[in-house]
Amino acid sequence: MSVKITQLHPRFGARVEGINITRHMSENDFNDVRTAFEKYSVIVIHDQDIDDDQQIEFSQRFGDLEMMAPHLGNDEKPRHISVMHNEDRNGKIIPPEDERMIYQSANMIWHSDSSFKPIPSLCSMLHARILPPKGGETEFASMRAAYDTLEPDMKNYLENKVVIHDFATTRKMVGGQLSDWQKKNLPPVRQALIRKNSVTNRKAVFIGGHATLIEGMDEENGKSLLAQLLKHATQKAFVYSHQWKVGDLVIWDNRAVLHRGRTWDVANHKRVLHRTTVAGDGPTV
Ligand code: OGA
Ligand code: MN
Repeated sequence: MSVKITQLHPRFGARVEGINITRHMSENDFNDVRTAFEKYSVIVIHDQDIDDDQQIEFSQRFGDLEMMAPHLGNDEKPRHISVMHNEDRNGKIIPPEDERMIYQSANMIWHSDSSFKPIPSLCSMLHARILPPKGGETEFASMRAAYDTLEPDMKNYLENKVVIHDFATTRKMVGGQLSDWQKKNLPPVRQALIRKNSVTNRKAVFIGGHATLIEGMDEENGKSLLAQLLKHATQKAFVYSHQWKVGDLVIWDNRAVLHRGRTWDVANHKRVLHRTTVAGDGPTV
């Protein structure tokens, strides 16, 4: 059976049908998915009844996986799966005011996963296990659309700029705590502001919640330019909102889109999604 691709938004995003991750996918079918990923930035695959091992195995076809460090609201041992959840080990809802939920609420700030690491990630995959009856969407914003629609002067101005990304910035925004491990191991890093995809040659603005300062600009001007770019990048016309169904697997290109989670009735309904993150292949500067 061959792969069918349907674009989801005028600028990016595609639904891919005709694949089943529980059965080994042919090299040909995988290449179709991989090519669609480079082109569309967000890939939605419905009805995947997979467990963590199957998600890991499929994710590894894209490359080596990042290890999820231990942190609040997640598991204790470093491993390849990171769980977005408001359900505790006993199946009870974690109260919204619990530290673990405050920690996870940073996911509701526009961001690119791992942009705070020296080598930022290639992509993330999220698999929906338990969903609330409404809300809890994940939104994606095309940083290629953002780049393409900048004025030529602005494109030139931004071309070789370097941005400092700092994990502590998003935690501060939600009033969350960093673990000792995070304090020690996640110092601020430098990232290119404009990134070019070597397969498609498309450029993207690389920003998001961890983006803190612009090198060579004073703090205030840098922050204000970052805020202006973020507003431009996340305007409605550049956003695809994914309304989850149980079994959905969504793959997104962290080089080309920002994402954020949306809230739901967290005190009364569970939401559980499992994530894998594929490591990038090198620094951006
Ligand atoms: C993530 C993330 C948002 C969401 O998994 O990296 O930011 O909607 N998730 O759960
Ligand atoms: Mn994320």
